Amino acid sequence: MLILTAAVVAPAQSWSEEPTMKSPAIPFTAHNIVLGDGTLTRPNSPVTADEPVTRAVMRSLDLFFPPSERKGKTIVDLGCLEGGYTVEFARAGFEATGMEAREQNFERCDFVASQLALPNLHFVRDDVRNLGNYAPFDAIFCSGLLYHLDRPATYLRLLAQQANHLLILQTHYALPDSTPAHFSLSELTEHDGYQGRWYREFPEHADQRYIEALSWSAYGNPRSFWLERRHLIQALRDAGFSTVYEQPDFVSNNVTDHYIEEQYRSLFVAVR
Ligand SMILES: C[S@@+](CC[C@H](N)C(=O)[O-])C[C@H]1O[C@@H](n2cnc3c(N)ncnc32)[C@H](O)[C@@H]1O
Repeated sequence: MLILTAAVVAPAQSWSEEPTMKSPAIPFTAHNIVLGDGTLTRPNSPVTADEPVTRAVMRSLDLFFPPSERKGKTIVDLGCLEGGYTVEFARAGFEATGMEAREQNFERCDFVASQLALPNLHFVRDDVRNLGNYAPFDAIFCSGLLYHLDRPATYLRLLAQQANHLLILQTHYALPDSTPAHFSLSELTEHDGYQGRWYREFPEHADQRYIEALSWSAYGNPRSFWLERRHLIQALRDAGFSTVYEQPDFVSNNVTDHYIEEQYRSLFVAVR
């Protein structure tokens, strides 16, 4: 387990012989972060801070944690990948921690931290199932992660225990009657107390190098369980979130953009 804070991280030693190097040796796969000197981690792609989903998440955070009352409020970004959202939470004034298990992803977070002078930006390299070792947090941001776990309902109970106030959840879900052709999901089945469909992440006996190379996948479980949409919402309620609602305005246009219907994926807010 490794803990890094932007304030104490030495400049990008692991990236190059050159400690002053400004671009990472490993290309970024998704998050386009504006670094301290204005350079981008993924030039020619949309800036993560400006993406509709980031703006939607920020609108919810503003509702529950108005900027004037934000000082000292904590947020964790689970499976933070390259740290793009964690950085925006820190820039917005939160005490922000990104949690990421995969070595190369974590190295990218390390690089980002080294390029930003943000004392409230932290990264830990650990499995998100160990969240209890760092919690509680005022807010939990769980994006692109729940559907990579094999016991998501159990994990939601952990999140409810460790969130002082709020969970913002961006996730795929399963539907009762149909499965999208582009995702290979099992028949509907019951697991961990709720209905959903299994998704195969990597072969059962895949070696660690193979798993490390799958930047966006599960870590530690060869298959994951996608909760059926209604079961997902009920699991959130059963876990202890008293108020659960969907925030579908995370797409750029709710008429012309079919992301939610095509991806079986949406943004949910759960309040304790
Ligand atoms: C689909 S990506 C989503 C990344 C980011 N949260 C986002 O929304 O852009 C899933 C991320 O979760 C990480 N991850 C998957 N399972 C994990 C686990 N058990 N513990 C920590 N990180 C995990 C992966 O390495 C990857 O960075």
